[in-house]
Amino acid sequence: MDHLNGWKRTGSCNYLNQSHLGRQVTLMGWIHRRRDLGNLIFVDLRDREGMTQVVFNPEHAPQTHQKAHDLRSEYVIAVKGKVGPRPEGMANKKLATGEIEVMVEELKILNQAKTPPFLIEDETDTGEDLRLRYRYLDLRRPCLQNILKLRHRIYQLTRRYFDQEGFLEIETPVLTKSTPEGARDYLVPSRVSPHTFYALPQSPQLFKQILMVAGYDRYFQIVKCFRDEDLRADRQPEFTQIDLEMSFVEKDDVIEVVEGLMREIFEKEKQVSIPQPLPRLTFQDAMDRYGNDRPDTRFGLELKNISDLVQNCQFKVFSDTIQKGGQVKGINAKGCATFSRKEIDDLSNLVKIYKAKGLAWMKMNPDGIQSPIKKFLSEEEITDIQERMQAETGDILFFIADTPEVTAAGLGALRLALGQKLKLIDPNKYNFLWITDFPLLEFDSEEDRYVAIHHPFTAPVEEDIPLLDSDPLKVRSQAYDIVLNGQEIGGGSIRIHQKELQSRLFAKLGIHEDEAKLKFGFLMEALEYGAPPHGGLALGLDRLIMILAEAASIRDVIAFPKTLKATCLMTDAPNAVAPEQLKELKIKLNTEK
Ligand code: AMO
Ligand code: AMP
Repeated sequence: MDHLNGWKRTGSCNYLNQSHLGRQVTLMGWIHRRRDLGNLIFVDLRDREGMTQVVFNPEHAPQTHQKAHDLRSEYVIAVKGKVGPRPEGMANKKLATGEIEVMVEELKILNQAKTPPFLIEDETDTGEDLRLRYRYLDLRRPCLQNILKLRHRIYQLTRRYFDQEGFLEIETPVLTKSTPEGARDYLVPSRVSPHTFYALPQSPQLFKQILMVAGYDRYFQIVKCFRDEDLRADRQPEFTQIDLEMSFVEKDDVIEVVEGLMREIFEKEKQVSIPQPLPRLTFQDAMDRYGNDRPDTRFGLELKNISDLVQNCQFKVFSDTIQKGGQVKGINAKGCATFSRKEIDDLSNLVKIYKAKGLAWMKMNPDGIQSPIKKFLSEEEITDIQERMQAETGDILFFIADTPEVTAAGLGALRLALGQKLKLIDPNKYNFLWITDFPLLEFDSEEDRYVAIHHPFTAPVEEDIPLLDSDPLKVRSQAYDIVLNGQEIGGGSIRIHQKELQSRLFAKLGIHEDEAKLKFGFLMEALEYGAPPHGGLALGLDRLIMILAEAASIRDVIAFPKTLKATCLMTDAPNAVAPEQLKELKIKLNTEK
């Protein structure tokens, strides 16, 4: 193997073009491809910036050419040579370096490589498990390198933005205490204090509030959060937030700062200007119109409530549901009266996943209405429904009768499925939306108590505070979520900054004084020492990058992601530990499965 011995690169594998013709250069990188034409050997030399074709010519440098016979894919090499033009007709317009090649005079083989288990190429049908196992090879693929470069640019832009806006970047602990963001904690046993555990933070929520009490005014951090929850395509057990908190502010102040960051990111990365201010929708309107609190507003197909029209109809599924406090709502799939039996069945099966008991439909055929429920409805009822649904010949209407929650979930999912199926979603659109006026509380029937929809430090809307005792579910919170193309990319709130109100809320949540003291005593105490009004928000950085990079999976935007089972296939974490380590921690394993 050769050594560098003082060789230095004159630039990356992407910097040479016709302006460098005749120049003496030194390049280093990986062998992407090697073509041995017997006489000439061509190598595509790759680094993270790009690719350069280098040529070994026996007439030009016989010994070097001889040595080049040993080269294989992914070997690490260094070459010295002269930049020349590619022969007539051999230019590659797709490559930045496509007009030139380097005629190699000297070659150093810096390292060999085993034959990789898959080709290092953007287009790959290699299974994800294998790619994650050899993540260092996977990460050599230009598409992943481009995503991590994009991610880097977003970190830098974010830091510049918040610095200019007067925010201080302050780190908060990773070994800490549980923060209630609604997931399970990852726990870390303490050796020094046996039988006690740290929790990894689900977010820096409590610390950033404490920083406000401490007078730091404006804080931000790009920070890892840890949540033990069921994983999905847009969820990782450890993920990154752009976290911020501000003092002496109201909802609109926080929203304005976040919108400013979004504007910069989308202008720089996508050359699109986003509306200023961004549209807002109340939680209730979002649920009513889209069946979802993170609606994709790039297409229509809004939900319509027909409960008032069918409350007395002969179709018992509808009238009984309404009688019991439920709803009947529908969607008009424009121009889809041609849907086949199978297409309708597939959609019925989809809504059943969301607990809907069925999916009634009505086709507006040219020769009249076709529907399994037509016989139960009067002509007047049908006319009213058509009018409400803005139905025209050629449309098909779908209806679900159920509780408001199930109706919303079923039709929300149906709406998205139709949007995709009918190709109504423009991938080049970026539709932002703030969702506001969330309810403060919901009732958890399993636990038989109220729980906070955001987190228990979220302030109620002032004028709703009197309802806390009389009608708690009616109390709105000062929380806001930011939604982009149907994904929740961030959430935040104005916080409670007075101890009395915080205690009252804990009581409402069934968190008793002792428990509150044990879990959040430090915050409660801090609130008694001059806490300013404050509020903030956290953006899910990985989700934002997913959208910017048009990545299908959150794993594609994280250098070393975990699988859906929260394992790392490269390092094999989590794994068993040595008995001595457990002994030191005074932990005995219960080996029952
Ligand atoms: P929240 O829990 O809404 O708020 O989280 C903020 C944003 O983080 C992203 N996110 C995730 N991304 C990937 N994987 C996950 N498992 C995951 N969980 C959440 C989402 C979400 O909108 N402390 C509060 C913020 C505040 O009130 O200031 C908080 O953490 O995009
Ligand atoms: P049935 O009389 O049960 O065969 O139902 C007639 C039609 O109503 C079928 O198309 C069912 O899918 C539909 N249906 C049944 N229950 C519901 C419901 N809760 N909401 C909407 N449609 C339903």
